[in-house]
Amino acid sequence: MTQPRTEVTVIGLGAMSRALARALLDAGHPVIVWNRTVSRADELVARGATLAPTAAGAIAATELAIVCLLDDGAVHEVLAPANLDGKLVVNLTNGTPAQAEKTATWALGHGAAYLHGGIMAVPPMIGGPGAFILFSGARPAFDRAERTLAVLGRPVYAGEEAGLASLQDLALCSAMYGMFAGAWHAFALVGSAGVDVEAFDDDLLIPWLKAMIALLPEQAANYEGAAYASEDSNAAMQVTGIENMIAASRDQGLPDETLGHLHTTLHSLRSVA
Ligand SMILES: NC(=O)c1ccc[n+]([C@@H]2O[C@H](COP(=O)([O-])OP(=O)(O)OC[C@H]3O[C@@H](n4cnc5c(N)ncnc54)[C@H](OP(=O)(O)O)[C@@H]3O)[C@@H](O)[C@H]2O)c1
Repeated sequence: MTQPRTEVTVIGLGAMSRALARALLDAGHPVIVWNRTVSRADELVARGATLAPTAAGAIAATELAIVCLLDDGAVHEVLAPANLDGKLVVNLTNGTPAQAEKTATWALGHGAAYLHGGIMAVPPMIGGPGAFILFSGARPAFDRAERTLAVLGRPVYAGEEAGLASLQDLALCSAMYGMFAGAWHAFALVGSAGVDVEAFDDDLLIPWLKAMIALLPEQAANYEGAAYASEDSNAAMQVTGIENMIAASRDQGLPDETLGHLHTTLHSLRSVA
């Protein structure tokens, strides 16, 4: 006999929370939704979700509440009137580790179990094979919800301290934005000389980035609190290269701020024999 699916409350219906609610509905979970802008619930109600008139009402309706709002301030504003006693609150709102710790302490003080999450996906990836979600907080709370949370993406337990998921989420996003910022600057640089940006991306940039990703395991293995340069690619040579990138950007009339942090990082390189 198939087990009935856990009822889940979803607080917030932005692009991400709507994707979360859709994935839960598709997996057969009864879903209660609430959003400040009520019209954002229309599509989900048409799919079978129940719209609660208040956030407190939505939280009262189920044992498990997933909260995914713009920021920490919105989370506290929305949750303040709710009775959290006996609930499991899973907060997937992006924030700092300190905010996660503070919200965890607050939720536990109101009788809830609490997990903080970091969603490593964009909305169309939710429920698909490429999505994973980091969770931190008490292990029993994670174990209790893991099967339901797996509907959204592969759940990865990051540890007991509530801030650990946010810390790793922000670290991953920092690496991602570093890559995107570099790519956007590369597009501007070649585009300024009339090079076909799409062909450059397909034929050169993507294969180049894939080849460079293969260097990461060695870099991680040698990482001791500072970036490092190998014998094959020494620090002075790399600093000269970045200075050429900055000079070429200026010559092409492009801003070079995105390269400034590289210059600082490369100046602090330690060489590893
Ligand atoms: N979208 C992504 O690619 C992505 C990827 C990973 C993680 N995330 C994270 O997921 C979270 C939600 O992102 P999103 O893309 O869904 O953002 P979004 O589309 O801008 O939605 C923001 C949500 O927060 C609500 N909200 C904002 N301020 C509020 C307030 N003061 N009181 C009550 N509700 C408030 C909005 O309600 P209204 O509808 O009433 O405005 C809406 O439900 C963020 O923390 C984001 O970092 C997003």
